[in-house]
Order: sequence, then structure tokens, then C-alpha cells
Amino acid sequence: MRMNLENLNTQFEHEPVDVVLANFLEVFSGKIALATSFGAEDQVLTDLVLQADPKAKIFTLDTGRLHEETYTVMDKINKKYDIKIDVYFPNASDIEVLYQRQGINGFRESIENRKMCCHVRKIAPLQRALKGVEVWITGLRRSQSPTRETMRLVEWDQGNKLIKLNPLIEWSEEEVWNYIKENKLPYNVLHDQGYPSIGCAPCTRAVREGEDIRAGRWWWENPEHKECGLHLKGAEK
Ligand code: ADX
Ligand code: SF4
Repeated sequence: MRMNLENLNTQFEHEPVDVVLANFLEVFSGKIALATSFGAEDQVLTDLVLQADPKAKIFTLDTGRLHEETYTVMDKINKKYDIKIDVYFPNASDIEVLYQRQGINGFRESIENRKMCCHVRKIAPLQRALKGVEVWITGLRRSQSPTRETMRLVEWDQGNKLIKLNPLIEWSEEEVWNYIKENKLPYNVLHDQGYPSIGCAPCTRAVREGEDIRAGRWWWENPEHKECGLHLKGAEK
């Protein structure tokens, strides 16, 4: 179903985000989904997506290792919009095998272990979440990380064989926060405690003033490894 993404980029790259979302949600109705980890960008997108289509599919991957604060914001979102975000959990027996192989916090011991944990807890559930989906919407922004600088609004996700739409790709952190404040959206309180980017609790820490946005993610690894596999380029999968 690969289509000419260059045309879509040319057509939509300079359109406002609500126009982009309204178009994609209409054209791909029933086959489009927003992935949220309840980070600041995802809160903006949840609000915009539900304005365009109150029945849109929104899902999250609950790795089983999330912060309590993340569950609190998940609950707030469900209540605010009167929805039930779809939650995908890891397969229980895969987690049992992972535990036998690498212990409970084996992800600290090697990149291989860490990638295996991310695979079982995030990638496999993501593959289930994306069944029947032709477009997945994410909160990726170019300025989040060196690994994201060349990303486009519309991309082909070779690993999952579908279109990835990144409506906030050109937004600055300030624009994201202005939207949240102006619209009084709930957000993860860890953002106020020095966490600009939030993943699993044991693999996320606060960053210091002036540090890179994603410096607190898998901080013990080199920057070029700092992707869990949700957003790798096709060839790297
Ligand atoms: S990650 O690959 O390092 O974990 P990041 O936290 O920057 O990604 O989030 C980027 C985008 O990936 C989010 O805006 C969201 O669309 C998607 N995403 C990340 N983690 C999850 C999750 N646990 N559940 C659903 N979507 C997620
Ligand atoms: Fe496992 Fe850490 Fe990856 Fe979460 S971020 S799935 S705890 S390695």
C-alpha cells in the first residue's frame, strides 16, 4: 500500500496541524491511530485528534514499568475526554522468559538486554496495536534529538509497513507548552520535575539545566543508541 509520500509531504508540510490531522483522519478513517505515551506532545495531539474525530483510535503501550505519574495523567485524559484509551500490555509469558534470561533489571547490563526488554515490552505490543492500521500518528519532533533531525511529516515505516504521520515534526518545545497552557490540558507532572522526555521509570531520569531533552533516557548508553526501536529507520530494524 506504499504510496507517494513525497506528494503528501509537499501537499501538507506547510499546512497547519489541524488541517493535516483533519485530512488524514478523514481519508484513513478506521485505519489511523494516535500512539501516546502521555508526553507533552502527545497531550497536544490527543486534544487535536479528538477535536477532528471524537471517535479516533488512541492507544498506549503499557510496558509494566511506567511511572505512577504517567498512570495519573492517563486517568485524567480518559476522564477529561470521556474516552478509554486502548492499552496494549506485553505478553505475560514473554515477560516471564525475559525475566529468567536477564533478571528484573537486566536492561542495565548490555544494549542487547535493553533492546530485548524494549522488544518484549514495547515493540511486540506495538505490532499488535498497529494491526489493521495504515497510518500511525506520533508526537515526534525534529529538535528532540540528533537521531530525529532528518525526520519528515509523513514517513514510510518500513518495519511496520505503514505510514507514520508526525504532525508536530516542526514544532518547538515552547510551542508545545504554549498549547498545553493555553488549553489547560492535563500533563505528566514529571515534566515539572526536570523530565522533558518520559519513558519507563527505570530508564528515565531528570535532566540538568542545559542538557539535551533526551539526556535522561537510557542515560548510561551513547546518544546514537538512544532509540528503543519504536522509531528506527527501516534499515536499522
Ligand atoms: S521513545 O521511542 O523514545 O520511547 P518518545 O518517548 O520520544 O519515544 O516518544 C515519541 C512518540 O512515540 C510519542 O509521541 C508517541 O507517539 C510514541 N510513543 C512512545 N512511547 C510510547 C508508548 N509507551 N505508547 C504509545 N506510544 C508511544
Ligand atoms: Fe525495558 Fe527500559 Fe525499554 Fe522500558 S525503556 S522496555 S524498562 S529497557
